[in-house]
Amino acid sequence: MRAARARFSTRLGFIMAAIGSGLSLGNLWRFPYLTGQNGGGAFVLLYVFFVAAVGLPILISELMLGKLSQRNLVGSFKEAVPSASKYWSWLGGIGIFASVLVLSYYAVVSGWVIHFVVQGIMGAFSQGPEHAGHVIDSLREKGLLQVLLASVHLMLTATIVAAGVRNGIERWARFFMPIYLVVLVALVMHSLLMPGATKALRFLFYPDFSKLTGNAVIEALGHAFFTLSVGFGAMVAYGSYLKKDVSVPTEGVFVAGVDTLLSILAGLLVFPIVYSFNVQAGLGPSLLFKTMPVLFGTFSLGPLIGVAFFICLYVSALSSSIVLFEGVVSYLMDEKKMKRKQASTMLSMVTLVLAIISALSSTAFRDVRIGERGLFEIFDQVIINWTIPVVGLGISIFMGWRLTDGRKQEEFVDENSLSSVRLFPTWQLAIRWIAPGLLILMFLIQIFTSIFI
Ligand code: PHE
Repeated sequence: MRAARARFSTRLGFIMAAIGSGLSLGNLWRFPYLTGQNGGGAFVLLYVFFVAAVGLPILISELMLGKLSQRNLVGSFKEAVPSASKYWSWLGGIGIFASVLVLSYYAVVSGWVIHFVVQGIMGAFSQGPEHAGHVIDSLREKGLLQVLLASVHLMLTATIVAAGVRNGIERWARFFMPIYLVVLVALVMHSLLMPGATKALRFLFYPDFSKLTGNAVIEALGHAFFTLSVGFGAMVAYGSYLKKDVSVPTEGVFVAGVDTLLSILAGLLVFPIVYSFNVQAGLGPSLLFKTMPVLFGTFSLGPLIGVAFFICLYVSALSSSIVLFEGVVSYLMDEKKMKRKQASTMLSMVTLVLAIISALSSTAFRDVRIGERGLFEIFDQVIINWTIPVVGLGISIFMGWRLTDGRKQEEFVDENSLSSVRLFPTWQLAIRWIAPGLLILMFLIQIFTSIFI
């Protein structure tokens, strides 16, 4: 028998960790800048649609696959359906590959957050709005500093993972998440009192479909995956730690719902600042880092709250990195028979080398470009718009068509909950037809636009 896996001690622990992975860079950093680049309301609407129609059903599938197989993504297919072809495990390999890539570029952005904590402590947020925007610009010109910060982040992540799931994830997430939420809500309220708030609300919630490009549609889909942590196998590993009595669909709906609300909250935080202080909405990856210091310069406790905000943002980035790292480490332990410590060390080395590429994209590799995009954005697009949706497509086909209905029903339906009985056919429809259909359509559009446009 396989060694019993460490389990989350309480349901609360899982929920907090899930919020932790939701309340992360994807929501606070990536969502606002994508919304800004893609014209606002119509993009937001599309993103919410993709979360509900594609992300959520596949999130439930991933958690379920992990829970019933008690394995990581690579090993889960064979365990769930013994007659499954060995090619399914390749899909797991792609998920692991995506996790390693994301870890590396996530480490660079997490490094930026560390820098902001340090700069905040040193008083950068009390020097007025004009100076506030310069912190990120000057950081992005310093390649070596970014590499250094990313390696601090990776070492911390590796150390926590090497110590084991329980100690690592639960303790951190539980303590920080409630504080983070309170800080965030207070900041949003402050932001909404700014003169640019009305414009911001209009930008976020009034869908102007004429602004929607083909690329925006693809970004919305990719981001739905990224923000829900789907397509990496990380949620399969997570599902395998779930207790037997936890209802996977309930957990999935909860996680996706909270995640979407948090993204909207991030939009409500950033865009009033954009419109009050004339920051360019389509600025790209620097947007959060340009706007927040401006906000902290507008009230007396701002510089202090700013430090608290970036500490919370960092802890959430760390907790996401832990989830990703754990997914890859559990694969190396289960399939490659490595020891936890050995796997953690090796992975931190590999991700560090890859992080150097992203970190130097705005300096030494500035001229490596495809069209408009630098290396950082190319990295981002390859992983998020291609790799993770491919894994998601595979998982939805496997769960939709390969796993028997009886097995699925057993996991999905809880006799005490009528809604789970009612939801089962909807979920089946989603993973058999809707999610794969939309994903294939998106791939075709991407191929078409990259060839002809
Ligand atoms: N969902 C996280 C975010 O929004 C990213 C992530 C992906 C975390 C995969 C864990 C696993 O930032």
